[in-house]
Amino acid sequence: MMRSILEFDDSNYYGKKVLMRVDFNVSIDDGVIGEDYRIRMAIPTIEYLTKRGAKLILMSHLGRPKSSEKRYSLRPVTQRLSEILPVNKVRFANECVGSIAEKEIDTMDKGDVLLLENLRFHQAEELNDQEFSNHLASLGDFYVNDAFSTSHRKHASTYGAASLFDKRAAGLNLKREVEYLSMIRDNPIKPLILVVGGVKIKDKIGALENLLPKADKLLLGGATAYTFLLANGSKTGNSLIDNEHLAWATEALSSYGEKIMLPIDHIVSTSVNESSSAVVVEGDIPEGSAGFDIGIQTAQKYSSEIGGSSSGTIFWNGPMGSFEIPMFANGTINIAKSMALAFWRGSKTLIGGGDTLQAMKTSGVSEGEVSHVSTGGGATLRFLAGDSMPGLEVLDLH
Ligand code: 3PG
Repeated sequence: MMRSILEFDDSNYYGKKVLMRVDFNVSIDDGVIGEDYRIRMAIPTIEYLTKRGAKLILMSHLGRPKSSEKRYSLRPVTQRLSEILPVNKVRFANECVGSIAEKEIDTMDKGDVLLLENLRFHQAEELNDQEFSNHLASLGDFYVNDAFSTSHRKHASTYGAASLFDKRAAGLNLKREVEYLSMIRDNPIKPLILVVGGVKIKDKIGALENLLPKADKLLLGGATAYTFLLANGSKTGNSLIDNEHLAWATEALSSYGEKIMLPIDHIVSTSVNESSSAVVVEGDIPEGSAGFDIGIQTAQKYSSEIGGSSSGTIFWNGPMGSFEIPMFANGTINIAKSMALAFWRGSKTLIGGGDTLQAMKTSGVSEGEVSHVSTGGGATLRFLAGDSMPGLEVLDLH
């Protein structure tokens, strides 16, 4: 049974300490925040709870630090939160547990927001350590998880501490993500088109195995496509190949070949740094060259599959090429623009993964031109694969 913050009455929040797991794992370079999508997606839940008089304590991880390294401090996020939430007082605690955190919490008023320092400064977080979970749980009266993107982790903040609360619920962002992704996984509005690019096949296998039987089309690009092309008997030159998953690609082609669309032309070059000498080739990729984007004909074919859809579901994960380099961005730009067209025509369009969000933005497509952009890369693929999601299970969300 799914329980969200909407299902508890306001007395659960008024003057209460609400401990909320968010995912503020964003890129921070020298104190400057890059893409802040994850921060912005937490705002509706933050506002919902603070407007109801909660003293809101936010906890998150940032990166994968080995110890309390300053560059992994969440402090810069406090500044961004204060800019977005001018009405609330947003403060920062230099520690996520212990007397420093407790002192800050004691002075909180209704509607205040406190961000705790990086949970992963304590190894106990990732170990789902009981004592650390107890410490975290002692900070609040009510537990909320709004971090779908870390819900595949069985950590103290997503699982151990959560299980110690009588009252625990999903935040609005997490609820929305689960609803959209459940639709794709369990009952997609047909036709279902999957657009998969990027490099790491391993991370996508579970989701593809689960979705391919239900999908109508799988459009492949990026390095993922070169592995499939090689498995299909084409020559791929020096293109990036995932040899470990070549056999899996062969199997997928023999079971679902009629649904799988592979690039028919490519933008190739001798190396990614030699984009000025890039050329278009049809069919096989010559010796000494590597593919860095789908070709123009492929982009057109894929675009008409996607943009022609007016009633189905389209899920996109992974760019079509090295889109950061203008010469290799055309395929990805075409996909992003046709996703926007399909959205305006009435299809449900979903994007998963930080790279894909970046690719979409580079293409000039805004978040408002997609039905849903998931905050999670790994979590999204794990959810679609039907894998265990401890952070959701502890909220009875399955
Ligand atoms: C992510 O960036 O996918 C989430 O924040 C989870 O981070 P992790 O893979 O380091 O657990």
